[in-house]
Amino acid sequence: MRDANPKTIYLKDYTVPDYLIDSVALNFSLDEENTSVISRLTLIRNPASQSTTTALVLLGEKLTLLRVVLNDDIELTEQHYQQSEDTLIIHNVPQQHSFVLTIENSINPKANTALEGLYLSNGMLCTQCEAEGFRKITYFLDRPDVMTRFTTTLEGDKDRYPVLLSNGNKMAHGELANNRHWVTWEDPFRKPCYLFALVAGQLACLEDNFTTCSGRQISLQIFAEPYDLDKCGHAMQSLKNAMLWDEQVYGREYDLDLYMIVAVSHFNMGAMENKGLNVFNTKFVLARPDTATDFDYEHIEGVIGHEYFHNWTGNRVTCRDWFQLSLKEGFTVFRDQEFTGDKTSKAVKRIEDVNMLRTRQFAEDAGPMAHPIRPDAYIEINNFYTLTVYEKGAEVVRMLRTLLGAEGFRKGSDLYFERHDGQAVTCDDFVDAMETANGIDLGQFRRWYSQAGTPILTVHQAYNAAAQTLTLTLAQTCPPTPGQRLKAPLLIPVTVGLINTDGTAALCRLTGQTESSQDIILQLTEAQQAFTFEGLAQQPVVSILRGFSAPVKVVLERSLDELAFLLSHDSDTFNRWEAGQQLASQIIFGLVADLQNNRTMQLNPIMIQAFEKVLHHQWPDLSYFSLLLSLPSESYLAEQLPVVDVEAIHTAREFVVRSLAEHFQSVLRKLYQTNHRDESGQFDAGAIGRRRIKNICLGYLSRLNDGEIQQWALQQFNNAKNMTDQIGALSDIVNNPHADQQQCLASFYQQWQSEALVIDKWFALQATCKMPDAFAIVLKLMQHPAFDLTNPNRVRSLIGAFSQGNPLHFHAANGQGYEFLGNQIIALNDINPQVASRMLGALTSWARYDKKRQVLMKAQLERIMTTDTISKDVFEVASKSLNPVNT
Ligand code: TRP
Ligand code: ZN
Repeated sequence: MRDANPKTIYLKDYTVPDYLIDSVALNFSLDEENTSVISRLTLIRNPASQSTTTALVLLGEKLTLLRVVLNDDIELTEQHYQQSEDTLIIHNVPQQHSFVLTIENSINPKANTALEGLYLSNGMLCTQCEAEGFRKITYFLDRPDVMTRFTTTLEGDKDRYPVLLSNGNKMAHGELANNRHWVTWEDPFRKPCYLFALVAGQLACLEDNFTTCSGRQISLQIFAEPYDLDKCGHAMQSLKNAMLWDEQVYGREYDLDLYMIVAVSHFNMGAMENKGLNVFNTKFVLARPDTATDFDYEHIEGVIGHEYFHNWTGNRVTCRDWFQLSLKEGFTVFRDQEFTGDKTSKAVKRIEDVNMLRTRQFAEDAGPMAHPIRPDAYIEINNFYTLTVYEKGAEVVRMLRTLLGAEGFRKGSDLYFERHDGQAVTCDDFVDAMETANGIDLGQFRRWYSQAGTPILTVHQAYNAAAQTLTLTLAQTCPPTPGQRLKAPLLIPVTVGLINTDGTAALCRLTGQTESSQDIILQLTEAQQAFTFEGLAQQPVVSILRGFSAPVKVVLERSLDELAFLLSHDSDTFNRWEAGQQLASQIIFGLVADLQNNRTMQLNPIMIQAFEKVLHHQWPDLSYFSLLLSLPSESYLAEQLPVVDVEAIHTAREFVVRSLAEHFQSVLRKLYQTNHRDESGQFDAGAIGRRRIKNICLGYLSRLNDGEIQQWALQQFNNAKNMTDQIGALSDIVNNPHADQQQCLASFYQQWQSEALVIDKWFALQATCKMPDAFAIVLKLMQHPAFDLTNPNRVRSLIGAFSQGNPLHFHAANGQGYEFLGNQIIALNDINPQVASRMLGALTSWARYDKKRQVLMKAQLERIMTTDTISKDVFEVASKSLNPVNT
């Protein structure tokens, strides 16, 4: 191991920086293998620092130091400074006045396969600095509370790097000898170095503009490889939509005259909000009707919105330290969720977000890496860009909006921006602003920031016919998580509605209150608390946690009949869908038990009746209709079981799908036919909904092994002019017996071999295939010429899709899936530690499986731990998985 005991960083140890950087002038002489960097820092002692040191500690990694000069004329030697693997310490710097330090170093972008710092992607040079990548470019105070004015000059070959970009405004440019040129950029806004970016390459540009609410005209530019320019239009429209939305909903206007987005094909995450120069994974920019699905279109708009919204929630107001990551990420995710909800369907977006939270974040919160949305310790911060910080963080912001109401929440956000513009602040500062603006005490609510684990909300109901009252007793508990045994009660907003047995709404009126309403937000603050509703002549059915008003698990015994009733009558779109999910889950769990006890499976007629009702209702929102027809995923079912039985879950769920397909085949055929039209290129809710419902129907029908349906799938595949229909049909062909499987996969590859993002889909589709030979296919695909361990999108679409999206085959009882993943993680560890660590996700949940699988999974984690070059990223996740920290 490189570092036998990597250091843990604690929130409680935070201290202010000893020095501040007033401004920096950076000069890059660009070259693939030897880029030289000259950094001229104007530094000043931080008056707020308590420390007595006279040394300046700069951070830097993998840098070749060439020169250090003080105040432009004093050449420093090794007597004046000391270098270590990750620091440059300058002794005895001036304390009373500002001083200038010029540092010259060189870096090798081509050797940088970790894709952090300055690296090469398809011949283009680009940077990724969040969280701690800037220190791989030059020595710096690489921490978010050091905010600096940046001036950046880029110099490079005119043919290789005709486009030279950095943050802010383009100030000057010129020509040099040897076919080189230069450009100087200046960012007028102070920013932490994690928001720095540069891009250089042969890039094409799509241009447009946006006029802000105050009448300023902003130039919008999307850069991509020339071949991809025809796939940038949707991203541009999304950007304009996001800019308008942030003005209308949050009163936030854009601040620079230029907004640039660059699409790069090698990227560790989704996208990055660098000031005025976002860098994006191509996956979240490029779309054409024939190459991208409806989901891709939606996600592109969501991610473009997300990065744009960061300009206020992240950049203008940034984080004091990385423990505060959810300050910008939780809030920004909440903002992008609402944006997408407004642009598409609120009901559908909410369900999709909750689905993801409950399948993936709940699993994280129940596993060895569980942490609060504001973690209090980490080894490698890259490991904390998690579903908890992002998605649960967004739920916490959403609860604030629920508690304060939309207006109160807006008052709070206005005050937050007013108070903290230009500052690096904490999650507490955010809650403080919400408190002050609304004149309330959120003391108990703050526990959501410090407590990990998914709370369990237990509901008991007692109806008193004589008094015409209903008493709901709500109780909360939270399971222990690593490092946190005891939990204090949280403030949980529980939105409740009551429904009469005829399906009409019963009004909610709590005892002692005069007002009544369609639903009510109960504020649970105690471990257990009772709420009594009055004026109920008959016992109503309770609709609990409407809109999923808190990120908790509800325990409330319900009969299948009651769930079927709610599926028919709940006026809350989330809970209506949720009732159907619970109904299906209960039925599938019953079948799982049948399988485990060698009983034959039989489908409960209640499921048939419920499905029939849904099928025969007229749904204005076809996407919502599609969700009602979708059974809970295998991973969500697994999440709810005490011990995951992968095979039984798969078999039971498939049995239900097939039974429904058989029973309803004529309705499903009709639905398919009425909704199957060529509306390629149309992305309105109607066209998207028709594609979605049609593809759901084809999915069911494909289980039937029916020659005519196989023809339908083949025709849809062959004639499709949009990717939603083409990949939808291909998935049905590949996941069910079909004579043309090989031929279709081959022709798809032929057709799309020059579209990397489509080829990613081709890999992922096969990696998640349910057919028996899936593992052999994965092994073969690893050898495919188009596979590439240095491209994170490819890795995710093959190794990630197999390990996280194909439970049936990944968890094969003989352990071959685990061993395969172990091998790949060890290989990736040396190439790209961040991606390697993400791939470990599939092994961290070993405790959820049977004893034999536990042994096999742990064996791989132990083998990974013996890698002698193990990175901090992989070390932290593997070691914590084997040994959850207990204090
Ligand atoms: N801040 C980015 C976002 O919008 C996250 C991100 C992008 C990131 N690239 C990264 C985080 C690389 C860590 C490392 O959510
Ligand atoms: Zn973000």
